Amino acid sequence: MIEIDPKLAAAFENQIAVELGNAIAYLSAYSALRALGWEGFSKKMKNEAFDEFGHAQNFTKYLARRGMAWEAKEIVAPEAAESNPAALAELAYNLEAATESVMRDLVTAAQDAKDESAVEYVAGKLVEQEKMTKQAWDFAQRVKDAAGEIGALVILDRQLENKGW
Ligand SMILES: [Fe+2]
Repeated sequence: MIEIDPKLAAAFENQIAVELGNAIAYLSAYSALRALGWEGFSKKMKNEAFDEFGHAQNFTKYLARRGMAWEAKEIVAPEAAESNPAALAELAYNLEAATESVMRDLVTAAQDAKDESAVEYVAGKLVEQEKMTKQAWDFAQRVKDAAGEIGALVILDRQLENKGW
């Protein structure tokens, strides 16, 4: 087992903190949308929150396999300026884009450390993250398009409620 370089370890800890911050932000968005009666949108946000917790767990598991315990960093949970489906879908996209950027730093840290196992692992995670960022962008556009017409927004909310997300 090769010990993890300190800078790379710090980048992993930062990534875990970001994933956990996302989980809190999504859970907060869930509450805000639920309070407004948007069942489908809130359900999607809740599922995203659990996905984010899973992402933090994946990195934790990888570090455990490498024999590294990580230290908790301060967790920042970004908030939306407004509580409505379009603003919270935009927040979701912003979270995913920021996560992708942090993950690129993690890939660079792994490359700098010449840690092949970590490079392979985080490069795979980055590919997944790029897909999530794109999906969040597409979703934000759909909500923005629907937001101009209350009927369209209600239909989208129902679709999300019935989808097994
Ligand atoms: Fe994530």
